Amino acid sequence: MTRIQNTVDYFEAYEAGKLNPEGFWGRYASHEFTWRAPWHNVYSADFEQARFRWFEGAQLNITENCLDRHLHTRGDQIAVIWEPNDPIEEPIKLSYRELYHRVCQTANVLKRLGASKGDRICLYMPMIPELLISVLACARIGAIHSVVFAGFSSRSLADRINDAGCSILITADGSFRGDKIVPLKDIADQALEACNSVRKSIVVKRTETEIQMVEGRDVWWHDLHTGVAEICDAEVMDSEDPLFILYTSGSTGRPKGMVHTCGGYMVYTCYSFEQVFQYRDGEIYWCTADIGWITGHSYIVYGPLLYGATTMLFEGVPSYPDMGRFWQIVDKYEVNIFYTAPTAIRALAQCDPKLIERSSLRSLRVLGTVGEPINLEAWEWYNDVIGKGQCPIVDTWWQTETGGIMISPLAGITHLKPTFATLPLPGIVPVLMDEHGNEIHERIAEGKLCIKQPWPSMARTIYGDHQRFIDTYFAHFPGYYFTGDGARRDLDGFYRITGRVDDVVIVSGHNLGTAEIENALDEHEQVAESAVVGYPHPIKGNAICAFIVMDSNIQAGSTLEQELLDLVSTIIGPIAKPDKFYIVPGLHKTRSGKIMRRILRKLASGDGQDLGDISTLLNPEIVESIGQSMGLTTSA
Ligand code: WT7
Repeated sequence: MTRIQNTVDYFEAYEAGKLNPEGFWGRYASHEFTWRAPWHNVYSADFEQARFRWFEGAQLNITENCLDRHLHTRGDQIAVIWEPNDPIEEPIKLSYRELYHRVCQTANVLKRLGASKGDRICLYMPMIPELLISVLACARIGAIHSVVFAGFSSRSLADRINDAGCSILITADGSFRGDKIVPLKDIADQALEACNSVRKSIVVKRTETEIQMVEGRDVWWHDLHTGVAEICDAEVMDSEDPLFILYTSGSTGRPKGMVHTCGGYMVYTCYSFEQVFQYRDGEIYWCTADIGWITGHSYIVYGPLLYGATTMLFEGVPSYPDMGRFWQIVDKYEVNIFYTAPTAIRALAQCDPKLIERSSLRSLRVLGTVGEPINLEAWEWYNDVIGKGQCPIVDTWWQTETGGIMISPLAGITHLKPTFATLPLPGIVPVLMDEHGNEIHERIAEGKLCIKQPWPSMARTIYGDHQRFIDTYFAHFPGYYFTGDGARRDLDGFYRITGRVDDVVIVSGHNLGTAEIENALDEHEQVAESAVVGYPHPIKGNAICAFIVMDSNIQAGSTLEQELLDLVSTIIGPIAKPDKFYIVPGLHKTRSGKIMRRILRKLASGDGQDLGDISTLLNPEIVESIGQSMGLTTSA
């Protein structure tokens, strides 16, 4: 199968992918890529043990497919355009050939430092070309990259480094974010105090911030690269060898290190990039995500490069020097495909229209959104004001765990319906489950979203904890992958994602586990107990509300709120800071001792009425007191 060109193709491909997945994926995979050895089996699946294998027996290196394979056809084509934080600074453009050599050189540097296949390497870096190069350099030598978003705190970084047992850290002296400098190296130094596994830390010079170099451990990126060869044979990987680990929050416990493997991830990110965005040769494609999230992995780095596209990398933030920055960049490079998050769209829609009007936005052909449900108002603004009614909007639903886009329109091919992610990609079989755990067969339905058929880029395990992988994704509905999301299906079979059905809250498109935030708050010496829920927020989609129970006989001091904010910032990172705090006398529990969050969610959204049946609570009277502390009258 090649590119889907019209709706007839789509429905044909859809049927083929459903009826004969082996044939469907086998055809695509053999058609598009450079394999060092063929597979003997397209896939095998054991839902009970959560063992999935794709292209078993095949060998490859994903960077040969991102780089080497393009050299004779598009060696001089720009692979990456880097736009710095400050618009005055020179951008960097790397052709496929230049990128190839830089990746090879860094791969050689890593080898010299003793890295080899299977080693874990942590990247804690700004959005600079060296980040993308480091990702690919790891893949080149078969080392497993674990990128940690540079907004995370030293504690979060240390936890991730330790969980994966990383031996090398790559970081930078600092990171520019608008008019601020984040002292990345200092944060990394603090983290490394708690990490025994890290032998070497490579430091890119970016902000010229003054830093401490630890003798024997810290080395400058540029020193390591001087005189190093720019050719490096790619390590031959088995299809099921791990490619990377990426952490995502869960509803309970610590973040989960999702493991993705080489062959299936390669096939699916290229496939989905091509089908969803309908990229045309010569176009400029810009995804505004950070490489620290899965969106950046799959649709800044791997998908576009596998396909041979020109991908943009933006170091800065949408608000610097002003809220018109995105649109100026679109005009500056004549961006054709623009992919961002609803939270950014809502924030940009609020600002002075003059900031948009000074850009023509003429080059845009396709718009995309990802990360959370998009509301109608934001969709219409994006469509009318940015797309001028001319650009299809692909509302792409997927997850860190799915590796690639699962449900989305195909730009210009399948129908759009505002606020709907619409139809699954061919090869993906979503289903809705009712409360008894049965598949709902009626067309129009609402239920929990599961995926019935394995697909190539599904995560294979949680690093170091396969049982948790089984329990989280495969135990609720035996025989299915459970997404944790709820969804509605309309008469046309279009899906609308309604949001998480577990204790994960999506704030500004970032996945946050309520348990993680509660654990952070509980570390305050005066806090006896806390409960965290999400509530609707006009820009962020959801915001965090924290209910705090103080230790007995302690009155909350005037600085408590600030102390709690600081605590969450240091333990997790600024993105997890609650927007609202309420000091409450206690928390209502079920008979099994669990906090009934449904009630807190309602209260947090400002609604004290219709709280439902609370008679099963151990202490129903506390609900009214909680309401009183919030200034709400409750139905309790
Ligand atoms: C959760 C996954 C996958 C890239 C970014 C987030 C929500 C994602 C959409 C969408 C409605 C969406 C879901 C999902 N989500 N895209 N288009 N419409 N909801 O990755 O951090 O793993 O979060 O984001 O709730 O489960 P992630």
